[in-house]
Amino acid sequence: MMIRILDKHFVPYIGEEELATRINELATQINIDFKDKNPLFIGILNGSFIFASDLYKQITIPSTISFIKLASYKGTTSSGTVITAIGLEENIHDRNVIIIEDIVDTGNTMFHFLESLSAFNPSSVAICTLLQKPEALLKPLEVQYVGFKIPNKFVVGYGLDYDGYGRNSKMIFQIKE
Ligand code: IMP
Repeated sequence: MMIRILDKHFVPYIGEEELATRINELATQINIDFKDKNPLFIGILNGSFIFASDLYKQITIPSTISFIKLASYKGTTSSGTVITAIGLEENIHDRNVIIIEDIVDTGNTMFHFLESLSAFNPSSVAICTLLQKPEALLKPLEVQYVGFKIPNKFVVGYGLDYDGYGRNSKMIFQIKE
């Protein structure tokens, strides 16, 4: 069933069951890979809140979770962009961090956030994203856990928004062109 958000139309793309199955697989893999590593999950707001919630409910190993917002500004690093984490109160030093993101598009956000995060000296950092658009990637970014690789088309739902709307859809919709 086609839906409309503001001025755009979207068609069903990834259904509830497919999402649940894949998220269960990701969690199972993380439970194996991070057994005895006491990982710290960091969910990136706003987009990842639904994915993070469903993923974290399937995590059975000792772990903690926290949420942050990212703000970018032109800084003085070589790359020119600094990403600061708002609300990062957790002690990251010597933790195995798993970033939970909704989608990696150009990779700019994650690339710069990893740079900022390294200043806190985590033991390790892994990225777990629900979606990735490999064709759009502009940065040498390693993404360890990807739910679905998708083509370079705009999507909404399951936490992802179009101009703030559509996050509450239980499934993911793709823009109709
Ligand atoms: P990047 O820095 O280009 O990788 O952008 C990542 C951010 O852009 C994500 O966290 C989303 O907030 C947003 N984004 C990228 N593609 C989409 C999309 O298809 N739908 C909704 N948001 C998107």
